[in-house]
Amino acid sequence: MTRERVTVPAIRSSKVISGHEPISMITAYDYPSAKMVDQSGADIILVGDSLAMVVLGHKDTLNLTLEDMVYHTRAVIASDPRALVIVDMPWMTYHTSENEAIVNASKLIRAGASAVKLEGGSKRCNVIRALCNAEIPVMGHIGLTPQSIRELGGFKVQARTDRAADQLITDALALQEAGVFSIVLEAIPELVARRVTGLVEVPTIGIGAGAGCDGQVLVFHDILGFNKANRAKFVKTYGDIESLGIEALSQFVKDVKTQQFPTRDHVYQGSSTQHHSAI
Ligand code: KIV
Repeated sequence: MTRERVTVPAIRSSKVISGHEPISMITAYDYPSAKMVDQSGADIILVGDSLAMVVLGHKDTLNLTLEDMVYHTRAVIASDPRALVIVDMPWMTYHTSENEAIVNASKLIRAGASAVKLEGGSKRCNVIRALCNAEIPVMGHIGLTPQSIRELGGFKVQARTDRAADQLITDALALQEAGVFSIVLEAIPELVARRVTGLVEVPTIGIGAGAGCDGQVLVFHDILGFNKANRAKFVKTYGDIESLGIEALSQFVKDVKTQQFPTRDHVYQGSSTQHHSAI
């Protein structure tokens, strides 16, 4: 596999209609998950604020802090990935002023991110322009925006009426005009996602938005079969790593209880010549 790093300009120009292969994006939140995602060949690692739910066990993403994201970004960057690393700006880190958004985004960039993602349409254009002027690349995110669940009334499919679909298209065009290099479309009808993808020049990356987007994103834990109780319709699970993990852990517990572990292979002997041998 080539180690040439994925860049923001490379993603910006990756429209399927121009002959590019679809973009693959997977979330990761720490060193081992980032290593696995990078070795899969994914184009983008998203340090998503879904971290709050799938790693920290929260009911929503609203309590995640900038410090949480900086901490997890550093762990992902420690894996030295080829994939482009994009980090979600948590709720309330870009809502109060453009200056505050720039200061907050700069902390994510200094932690190693190549770009930030933020949620919302036309009303976010000023902040997106300010970030782009500060040389911070921005990925947009419209449709189901989990940071707005209070306003949306829950995790619900969006843009189902003609009016809502028209508003989503207006938002996508506004984001493009403000300078985003790509747009996540979450939980919207396939036809609406196709229309948006045909209208904007930057690539769209869908999650629950059908096959007409320029790329697809899924959450690491969903792909690997964690979190089965809350699986959304749009998730495809490619492995049951949770069950495999429980099986392996149970085997360890059983071996301890039955004194099958440790064996001679796992213990040190006391000879003076072995005192400085490697662990
Ligand atoms: O936080 C996240 O994982 C996301 C993806 C679902 C796009 O924003």
